[in-house]
Amino acid sequence: MGDFFDFENLMNHLHGAFNHFPIALLFVSAGLDFVARKRPNLRSSAWLLLVLGTLGAIAATVSGLLAHLAYEDDPYLLSAMEVHQYLAFATTTLFAALTAWRWRSLRRGSDVGGNPVYLALILLGVVVLGVTGFLGGNLLSEYGIGVKGVTR
Ligand code: HEM
Repeated sequence: MGDFFDFENLMNHLHGAFNHFPIALLFVSAGLDFVARKRPNLRSSAWLLLVLGTLGAIAATVSGLLAHLAYEDDPYLLSAMEVHQYLAFATTTLFAALTAWRWRSLRRGSDVGGNPVYLALILLGVVVLGVTGFLGGNLLSEYGIGVKGVTR
């Protein structure tokens, strides 16, 4: 892969660093909204993690797009990335929409965090996010993308 400070290598490392933020923060945000049915004071923590996790999803999407540019000339590797890429777009759009919805509701003095439609959508969101992360991991372990590895 050449020098450590190559654009391709840095983007690869950047995506590997950023993508952990949405995965960790958004799963905990969703979990807190369910626990908040019994402990309502956790709602504001769920909201904070939703905002931070959505910013993380945007950072992961941008860094992923930059990381994938190195493979533009290889149709086989590009097709391996396709589902990961499109599920990442869907995940980021869904969480951005949930953040906007919750922000509007908070400005009006209520919090949609306990709304059944919100809870159903955030559950859907973490499932799609989980599959996105799983397929991202497969790009490394099954296709060896961005890896100088040893397998025994
Ligand atoms: C919500 C957004 C995203 C998440 C959560 C995510 C998650 C992941 C994960 C967990 C990995 C395994 C690598 C590791 O653990 O270090 C990965 C790898 C990868 N992802 Fe994403 N990803 C996202 C968006 C994207 C997008 C939009 C693209 C564009 C094609 C992309 C391209 C890649 C590539 C090329 C790899 C393998 C090499 C590397 O790590 O740079 N990702 N992703």
